[in-house]
Amino acid sequence: MKISELKQAYIKLFGDDHPSVYFAPGRINLIGEHTDYNGGNVFPCAISLGTYGVAQKRDDTKIQMFSENFKKLGIISADINDLFYDKKDDWANYPKGMFHFLKEKGYPIDRGMNIYFYGNIPNRAGLSSSASIEMLSGVIADDLFDLNCDRIELIKIGKQDENEFIGVNSGIMDQFAVGMGKADHAILLDTNTLKYDLVPVKLENHVIIIMNTNKRRELADSKYNERRSECEEALAELQTELDIKTLGDLDNDTFDQNAYLIKKENLLKRARHAVFENQRTLKAREALTSNDLKTFGKLINASHVSLKYDYEVTGKELDTLAETAWQEEGVLGARMTGAGFGGCAIAIVEKSHVDAFTKHVGEVYEKEIGYAPSFYIAKIVDGAKKITD
Ligand code: GLA
Repeated sequence: MKISELKQAYIKLFGDDHPSVYFAPGRINLIGEHTDYNGGNVFPCAISLGTYGVAQKRDDTKIQMFSENFKKLGIISADINDLFYDKKDDWANYPKGMFHFLKEKGYPIDRGMNIYFYGNIPNRAGLSSSASIEMLSGVIADDLFDLNCDRIELIKIGKQDENEFIGVNSGIMDQFAVGMGKADHAILLDTNTLKYDLVPVKLENHVIIIMNTNKRRELADSKYNERRSECEEALAELQTELDIKTLGDLDNDTFDQNAYLIKKENLLKRARHAVFENQRTLKAREALTSNDLKTFGKLINASHVSLKYDYEVTGKELDTLAETAWQEEGVLGARMTGAGFGGCAIAIVEKSHVDAFTKHVGEVYEKEIGYAPSFYIAKIVDGAKKITD
């Protein structure tokens, strides 16, 4: 849908004629998976698939929200002075949570809004459509009410929305990538300190292909929370001897020397992934900045292997995509991205091989899994912002 069409759709629905248009991207993570709630580093970028919002203030305190993607649900209404989670409001709970926490922190949102949403992130693909709508709603409120909210604070509120309003116990990576993205850059973020570096993504004659398993991410939230608590348990055992706050405080050797403290094999594997993946992420950043693309690709492959065997969050669909990609010509590396359990993988592929790559990986996947995957070329863009007045 074009921006002009979106504006027209807004005007037709709400009648007012001076709305502004905003955009928030989705994200992929290059490497550093399941490290953000373990005090480690992540390396995501914002992508051009994202969520658009057309919005204007109202004179009363009503919030009227409509999504082109969920037309059947119609206009969802709320009052700016009475915001609470309501299951039947479905997707609209994300913006409601943002406005709720902004107000709770004292930001003066004293009137309602009309907002028309449209997203082109494939549904439940693990490309952070939820962080996208959270940050979009935050940016809309910030702009319409001149809140001057610091971007990092807005990101933290996005995470709070996800954790406390929606009830998903995620880390900060997604909101950070969506909020702080920069075109053609990846963000090396230390989730312990929130210090970050924007690193140019120069892949010479390669592009990043997003490969969507098209598998519904069932049970993803409960498995996600299970991994979190397994890591917490392993950390507690290590803390009986080591003075550390998070698994991200450990290097590989110190982990190996103290791994005997962890009694159960599955906890050992989870913790080993968190520690090694964190170190791999730092090495990947080094490789990328020194144009050592081969090493960068190998680290990406190693990340997938660790997520498959140690963290156990890949599954047949993601494994088929990544492992088929590894065999293809012109591929530097491939791995799952995001939480796992379905969703998407990424592959770094030489431009001249892209057509053959998608054709062949698509065929193998369909034969193995029974339905087709989808492919998109990732374009790395800026974080959430206003596009037009
Ligand atoms: C999801 C969460 C993130 C992060 C990833 C795994 O996307 O929202 O916080 O934990 O999974 O790296």
